[in-house]
Amino acid sequence: MRLGGAAIIGAAALLATGLGAVRPTWRWPALPAGVAAPSIPADNGMSAAKVALGRRLFYDRALSADGSMACADCHQQEKGFADGLSTHRGVMGDMGVRNVPGLANVAWRSGLTWTEAGLSTLEQQAMVPMTGTKPVEMGLAQDDAGLARRIGADPCYRRMFAAAFPGAQGGVGFAEVTAALAVFQRTMISFGSAHDRGALSPLAARGAAQFKAAGCADCHSGTDLTDSKTHYVGTSAPREADSAAYGGKPLPPGVEPPPEQFRTPSLRNVAVTGPWLHDGQSPTIESAIRRHAAPMLADVDMPALLAFLDALTDHDFLNNAALARPPATCPIPT
Ligand code: HEC
Ligand code: HEC
Repeated sequence: MRLGGAAIIGAAALLATGLGAVRPTWRWPALPAGVAAPSIPADNGMSAAKVALGRRLFYDRALSADGSMACADCHQQEKGFADGLSTHRGVMGDMGVRNVPGLANVAWRSGLTWTEAGLSTLEQQAMVPMTGTKPVEMGLAQDDAGLARRIGADPCYRRMFAAAFPGAQGGVGFAEVTAALAVFQRTMISFGSAHDRGALSPLAARGAAQFKAAGCADCHSGTDLTDSKTHYVGTSAPREADSAAYGGKPLPPGVEPPPEQFRTPSLRNVAVTGPWLHDGQSPTIESAIRRHAAPMLADVDMPALLAFLDALTDHDFLNNAALARPPATCPIPT
């Protein structure tokens, strides 16, 4: 099905409360039949003010130790919010350990990151790039006062935090920053690919049938072509396992790491999120498929399969102005 550009953005409606105050609320855009709105934490509802704040923060390099790195440097809209690199170095020069995943429809993921790191909400996950040490990415200390100096010194941010968190007395800490980032990321909604619109070419339609027949859809299942689960698919060397990377729990001393399992990635926009697989070591989609699903390919017409995967690209999403770098001018004038 086709969603208009304006519908994708979501609507900020003004709702009069019983007391006569006017309170901005949030409505999900029209979603395809059968897709329910994602579940969101009870303590972090959607609001237009939080979306605007989260968007500004997502693109702001002030959220890194040396002012050189924003979320958006690794998660680039035109690449489906991936980055085109195998792995991405952090601000202290630490080599990245895993490939940057795309973020389309991340609001619907029930498990986050390539491994079973115990990160189930976007609020929890956002702490990892900002303050994680294995590897250091943005390199911030886990220190609310430091964060408040870095962000809260800006009068525009002070107004935006006050609008987004009206009860919090203008507090600027990691709780508010992660809440706003999560709310913005929940608006990264992508249902406009040729596959969604029922507009597959004959070749891609043949590929779609083979994707099911070959069993790809056993793991790449559902609306977003992922079961959100981890599987052992033979893509890691045992020595590679580092359970403590990116916010995971370290293994007790002396315990041998098991062969690593990886979460089935969503295949939305997969044509633009390469290089592929958890380590970014597959330079083509075909090599990524052969590396983890070779035995399934005996009867598969590869050009048709690749045409289907290409039809998962949502150009409206990659160009959605509501998800792009926001204008430098403050959205809340003095
Ligand atoms: C240095 C590059 C880098 C930066 C900066 C970065 N990320 Fe990421 N991001 C990654 C990598 C790599 C992963 C995968 C980690 C893993 O799987 O263990 C990831 C994973 C994620 C995921 C999980 C997606 C999924 O489907 O599982 C989300 C959400 C996310 N990042 C949001 C953010 C936010 C918000 C910020 C800014 C606060 C941010 N990232 C900054 C590299 C980065
Ligand atoms: C047993 C579950 C399973 C099956 C079956 C399966 N995959 Fe995957 N797929 C995965 C996992 C897990 C990964 C990530 C592996 C990694 O990163 O090491 C993956 C990764 C991919 C990627 C790379 C995506 C990216 O963003 O890097 C593509 C493309 C892909 N699969 C397509 C297919 C196709 C096509 C088939 C059928 C021929 C298939 N898969 C069968 C689980 C599966």
